[in-house]
Amino acid sequence: MNERDIELKKIRDEVLKCRKCLLYKTRTLPVIGQGNHQAKIMFIGEAPGYNEDKTGRPFCGKAGAVLDELLKSINLKREDVYITNLLKCRPPNNRDPEEKEIKACSPYLERQIEIIKPKIICTLGRYSMAYIMKKYGLENELQSISKIHGKVFQTKDIKIIPLYHPAVAVYNQNMIKILKSDFNILNKSL
Ligand code: URA
Ligand code: SF4
Repeated sequence: MNERDIELKKIRDEVLKCRKCLLYKTRTLPVIGQGNHQAKIMFIGEAPGYNEDKTGRPFCGKAGAVLDELLKSINLKREDVYITNLLKCRPPNNRDPEEKEIKACSPYLERQIEIIKPKIICTLGRYSMAYIMKKYGLENELQSISKIHGKVFQTKDIKIIPLYHPAVAVYNQNMIKILKSDFNILNKSL
């Protein structure tokens, strides 16, 4: 194990027993993150859904199949990137994350970013978009996702690209097209 593996394993061990917000009560398994610990690209979704909560793996349901298709469209595999979420435990009935849950859980994400040091962060959906844009001093650029999806925000040492959540494209070919064209933009900024 290298330094990154060791540090990420520490996060895993902490999250597995985390009780920092009430979501620990209703989760089956937390979803910590998956992928390449040397990845240049990190994808940050919202929170585990039904399937993720059962397996502990991010994006393993229908939205995950869309994500796989999008990665494939630019010749990437899951093993090339790192995928995680803003919240590590599933909110009951997939409700929206609450502010206090984001506050409690985001230190894990902060540490994951610090360890992996991606060159590009792609946010998936509006919650991780808002969180990450504020973190990197882009609060003044924050607009609705329909306005800024697929835009590349260059900060001092990292690019931020807000993307629609792949769940919006399940059964929606038009949204798939939009996401594919945004993934093309990601591909060009590699
Ligand atoms: N939706 C997310 O935001 N994250 C997952 O891991 C699965 C679905
Ligand atoms: Fe801990 Fe995050 Fe799970 Fe809340 S959602 S219990 S803060 S790991």
